[in-house]
This record gives sequence, structure tokens and C-alpha cells, in this order.
Amino acid sequence: MTNKRESIHGQWSSRWAFILAATGAAVGLGNIWKFPYIMGQNGGGAFVVLYLACILLVATPIFIAEVMLGRRARRSPVQGMTVLAQEERASPAWKYLGWMGVIAGFLILSYYSVIMGWAMAYVERAMTGSFNGLDGAALQRMFESFKANPMELLFWHSLAMLITMLVVVRGVRAGLQAFTVLLMPALFVILLLLVGYGVSTGYFGAAFSYMFTPDFSKLTAHSVVVALGHSFFTLSIGMGLIMAYGSYMPEKVSIGQTALLVVAADTTVALLAGLAIYPVVFANGLEPSAGPGLVFQTLPIAFGHMPLGVLIGTLFFALLTLAAWTSSISMIEPAIAHVVEKRGWTRVKAGIWLGLGAWLLGIASVLSFNHWNEFKLFGKTFFELLDFATSNIMLPLGGLLIAIFATWIMRRESSFDELGMSERAYTLWRILTRYVAPLGIVVIFLYGLGILA
Ligand code: PFF
Repeated sequence: MTNKRESIHGQWSSRWAFILAATGAAVGLGNIWKFPYIMGQNGGGAFVVLYLACILLVATPIFIAEVMLGRRARRSPVQGMTVLAQEERASPAWKYLGWMGVIAGFLILSYYSVIMGWAMAYVERAMTGSFNGLDGAALQRMFESFKANPMELLFWHSLAMLITMLVVVRGVRAGLQAFTVLLMPALFVILLLLVGYGVSTGYFGAAFSYMFTPDFSKLTAHSVVVALGHSFFTLSIGMGLIMAYGSYMPEKVSIGQTALLVVAADTTVALLAGLAIYPVVFANGLEPSAGPGLVFQTLPIAFGHMPLGVLIGTLFFALLTLAAWTSSISMIEPAIAHVVEKRGWTRVKAGIWLGLGAWLLGIASVLSFNHWNEFKLFGKTFFELLDFATSNIMLPLGGLLIAIFATWIMRRESSFDELGMSERAYTLWRILTRYVAPLGIVVIFLYGLGILA
């Protein structure tokens, strides 16, 4: 009955456009930079199992719920939650779930753009052969002195934000869709080339068994929290972005199947990124647990010594930049859609002001790598705190509330009607979203609190 609503922001042209755009938002620094290094910090195979369990049992059902809420409301997350709450006779306070998403997206964009800037800076370094012949210590110095230079970080952060906003202001179809449709295939091709290179090193088998032979004794309570947080971050769920993208989804498209395709693509890219990076790490006797520097200071050792290193290195950082770009253009969507709906601003005006705000906040992240690196709260710099607070607290909390709204507050008929699944698939989704996912999130949260205590 309520399905006649239309989004004022336009629509994806087809099911495939949604799949590509959502995959573009999902596949990003999270898959190629973060996943390989957190896997290395958390013992390899066992972490992969944990991560896959979080994706399947918690994140995927919530992804489906989030798309469903978006398409039903056909509005930005704040107005969307207001309308849905009214319709289900629930408290108007549910709109704050939308607000949390708007804020989380804004916060994530502010620091994401800084790291996207790193990737861009390293394209330049790779292309000019700066890694040639350098050893681990020299590359570590290069990375450290890069981070220690606020002006250089600021330059790249500004450029990253600028190219993000140039796409955002063009709108849903001419900007987000056109751009992602163009870039995603390029990204897959580069990734496959790099995996091919990994195979040629002769260390593919070693990487494979590192990633797929679990040793659970290597896991800590912290690994569990990180795996959960990452499953939200990598799929971009829990913050209303997928809700906004869902609101641009044409009627009649099957949400369940579409969501499964996006999740499969995102997970495949993360695993392939591991299979591209780890053969190089092992072939060069490098450390898997290098942390955030893994792709910036560890991999260049290999690029600087291998045949065709300039080409492979440039391709790798170009891949990282493209992946970051197709994600960065998505993050601010809940906020943009909100001001366009609520304040009647044009997309261009909204993009300029919100982009400017995120850019300004990003400067604090830039400084947290140099001038402010001594200022710590809970033992974390500003950048680390933002990353932790968004991925490990705000997104899982948003996801928990989405799961609760979709299956405890919303009437069964409403969700059944919007999802259009078979009775069996619907029941499976409902059990996972109503019981398994919320329980998983709460238990992992409490576990996490235990670590902090
Ligand atoms: N999913 C993106 C990644 O893995 O890099 C990160 C991300 C994008 C998070 C968009 C949140 C978001 F709204």
C-alpha cells in the first residue's frame, strides 16, 4: 500500500546499476588496505573464519534489512526512519538512527579521504620508481617521513576530497552510477592481474595456506571485536548509506538476491586482495603483521626489487585509489540526501558545504600523524579514535538498531511484502536478523567491554 513512494533524488537505472554502485561503495580501502593487515595482525586463517562468520550470520542479514528499509521509505535515512516509524506506530525517536548514520558517514569520510590521499601519493612514488632498490628500513623511513609532513598529507587529502565531491555533486545517475560502472570493471581487472603476479612468485601456496588454515589459538577477544566491526565497515552497513542506496532501487528488484551478490563480490575482493598481497610478502621474507604500513611500507620493498616493479606497483596503488574513490563518493550520501530533502538545498550546494566540513575535520586526522601524535585518548590518536569509534561502535550499534527495527518493530507483513522472498528464504532471514545478529552483536560488544575493563 505504501509502495507508491518515489525518491526525489532519482533512481538507479537497473538492478545491475544498484549492484555495481553498492559494490563500489563496499569495496574500498577496507578490502585492500585494512583487511589484509588486520588479518596479519590477528593470526591469518582463524581471523578469516571469524570474519566470514560475521559476514554470513550478522552482516548479510542486516544488509538485506537496511536495503529493505530504504526502499520502503524511499527517503534519506533521517526522514526515512521518521516515515517508517509513523507507519509502524513506533516512537519518532527512531529518526536518531538515521542521524547516527548521517554523522558516521561524515566522520568516516573525513579520515577516509586522508588515507585515500596516501594511496594517491604512492601512485606517484611507484610511477617514478622511488622504491627501486630500497630496503625495508629505507621504505619505513619513507613512509614515516611522508606521515610526518602535514603539508604533503594535507595536499593529498584535499585532492582526494575534491575529486570525491566532483562526482558526488553530479547526482545519483550521472555521478554515482556512471562513475562506478566505469571504474569497477577496471578494478577487477587490475586485481586479477596482481593475483596472477602473486601466483608467478611461487609463494601462492604459502599465502593460501596462511589464509585458509585456521589456528584458533592466535585469536584474542580483541580479534572478535575487530572482525565484527570490519564486517560492518567493509559492507558499508549500519550507517544508513545502504538505506539511501536502497531508496534509489527500482521496484520489483529482488532485494535478497541483489544483496547476496554485493556481499559475495565484496568478500571475493577482500580474499583476492589477500591472495595478491601475501605471496609478495612471503616471497620477500616480509612480516605479515606489519599493521597499517603493510601495503605502504612492506609491499614497496617487493615493488622495488621485482621485475616490472614500477608497473606492478603503480597498478597496485592505482587499484587502491580507485577502490577508495568509489567508496568515498558514497559515504556522504545520507547527509547529502538529508539536506536536499529537508533544507531544499541543491545537490551542488550540499556537496560543497558537507565536503568542506569533512575536509576541515580531516585536517585533525592529518595532524594526528605528526604534530598531534602525542595527544591520545584511551591510548589512541585522533585518527585511531575516529576509526575505532565509527567501525567498532557506531556501525555495529546502527546495525543492531536496524535489525531490531526491521524485525521487532516493523510488522511482518510490511517486511515480507517489501522483500518479496519465498516463505523459506524469508523465515531464514527473519531468524538471522531477529535473533542471531542482535545476539551476536551484543555478546561481542560485552566481550569488547571486558577487554577495555
Ligand atoms: N566499505 C568501505 C571499505 O571497505 O573501504 C568503507 C565504507 C564506505 C564505510 C562507505 C562506510 C561507508 F559508508
